Amino acid sequence: MLRTHTCGELRLDHINQEVILAGWVQRVRNKGGLIWVDLRDRYGITQLIFEEDSSEKELLEKAADLGREFVVQASGRVIERTSKNDKIPTGSIEIKVSKLDVLNAAKIPPFIIEDETDGGDELRMKYRYLDLRRNVVREKLQLRHKMMQETRKYMDAQNFIEVETPVLIKSTPEGARDFVVPSRVNPGEFYALPQSPQTFKQLLMVSGFDRYFQIVKCFRDEDLRADRQPEFTQIDCEMAFVEQEDILSTFEGLTKHLFANVKGVELEEVKRMTFAEAMKYYGNDKPDLRFDMKFVELNDLAKGKGFGIFDDAELVVGICAKGAAEYTRKQLDALTDWVKRPQIGAKGMVYAKYNADGTIKSTVDKFYAQEDLQAWAKAFDAEPGDLMLILSGDTGKVRKQLSELRLKMGEDLGLRDRNVFKPLWVVDFPLLEWDEETNRYHAMHHPFTSPKSEDIALLDSDPGAVRANAYDLVINGVEIGGGSIRIHDRATQQLMFKHLGFTDEEAQNQFGFLMEAFEYGAPPHGGIAFGFDRLCAIFGGSDSIRDYIAFPKNNSGRDVMIDSPSTIADEQLKELSILVNLKK
Ligand code: AMO
Repeated sequence: MLRTHTCGELRLDHINQEVILAGWVQRVRNKGGLIWVDLRDRYGITQLIFEEDSSEKELLEKAADLGREFVVQASGRVIERTSKNDKIPTGSIEIKVSKLDVLNAAKIPPFIIEDETDGGDELRMKYRYLDLRRNVVREKLQLRHKMMQETRKYMDAQNFIEVETPVLIKSTPEGARDFVVPSRVNPGEFYALPQSPQTFKQLLMVSGFDRYFQIVKCFRDEDLRADRQPEFTQIDCEMAFVEQEDILSTFEGLTKHLFANVKGVELEEVKRMTFAEAMKYYGNDKPDLRFDMKFVELNDLAKGKGFGIFDDAELVVGICAKGAAEYTRKQLDALTDWVKRPQIGAKGMVYAKYNADGTIKSTVDKFYAQEDLQAWAKAFDAEPGDLMLILSGDTGKVRKQLSELRLKMGEDLGLRDRNVFKPLWVVDFPLLEWDEETNRYHAMHHPFTSPKSEDIALLDSDPGAVRANAYDLVINGVEIGGGSIRIHDRATQQLMFKHLGFTDEEAQNQFGFLMEAFEYGAPPHGGIAFGFDRLCAIFGGSDSIRDYIAFPKNNSGRDVMIDSPSTIADEQLKELSILVNLKK
């Protein structure tokens, strides 16, 4: 070993010991005859001291020549510091250096490698290996490591078997977002990278594995956002001989285990809400329950009073922001402009302030008498000092808009505390979702999800109303995981494909292997997959999953460090039979 201790290890107990440390130079302070060097490794920072009186001149000169990020080995004696630094664990000691070796010099780094850095996003991504030297970034990956270990511990204790499934699989039209890989030995043919191991884990259930899990990379060629990467990791799980309740309780168990063992947080019981309730009261299928501000529908109270905009709207709906009546005219105008931005798309916003004296002042006083407004306040359960914000329009659109406004108000009023965790199961998702573009129904979760038996009769008459045995785990407004109880017989699976617009032949070509497997004794089964990167980001208190991935892609799906994706040579294209295909 090139060291006897790490840079985070030495304390007053070690006084007078001869030690050898190795690490990176974080800072050099040169006061002429006295030089201090902060030496850093992944465990911490230790101060080295070089003094003119006792050190040889040569040693002092060597120390004076050190630059940021030089890799050095320092031998010396642990001594007590005269002025202690109580901000770091090694702050009571320093090393009086007797020997210094530069193991490798370093160019001046493109940004400061400290918790507070001057490096912009793009620069830090280009030099990600330097960014990863920063404590704040490394700690996020250590959190990820811990989450991974604790996940494996829990799953193993619950008898789950970790099985690896293939990465080169088959593209399907359902997977329009597949990344594809040309096959050299099968000219003109392509593999696809898995968007998830869904069919494989179901086949493992047919094989009798009973409880499977895998911490697995998945690939999706989607538009990127803060919580989406083209390659991301799932905790993918499947169980046989279970019902929805069994899955919910097993994975509530995993969630609680992780919170308890990684964060030291004892999670309360995970609440449940149906998809329909989530849409009605929060305007989306992943409500942030750290704060209340439930939607209140006002059709009965607001229509028919001569206010055309409300009269013509399908839905008049609002939220009550507690204690926000003191918002100024300027703030309210800004809020109105905010909801009218194209990203939100509201036509306007009505507000009503519940004044301290009990009167209500609204932007539509012309149409509504005090009694009308008092009736609104009652519906909102509002008190003096509260602010009611109301939108109107088509049900789907207005719920979406109000949901954005609710989140903004939650943020502005400081109600979205990163140290508070409110997990929620959203259940009873619709089985199918109408797609305007293709003019047909798509599976809302995936085509292997089973419909609720009591709704199967609706498949022909009202497909949109059929509910699925599907559930999502939501924490603080983030979709952390999703899963379902699967179809496990050929006839139902075939019927599902038919409703999704597949011909028998298409279904057979793409999923014949699965339907055939169902004919060889498939047990009832179901499962779930957690977005592991998102789970890490929630634990770490971040909105972006990028920091929890060692080498992430940027928002255009590029790795700017290795400069990928990139073009490939014609020769290579030819060998892969791609150039030939293009010319045809
Ligand atoms: P689903 O598509 O809902 O389900 O994915 C499961 C979870 O994976 C996370 N996730 C992502 N995370 C980061 N970047 C992405 N691009 C991305 N896409 C999804 C989300 C999501 O909840 N096979 C099914 C699971 C099942 O039915 O068992 C599936 O993949 O947190």
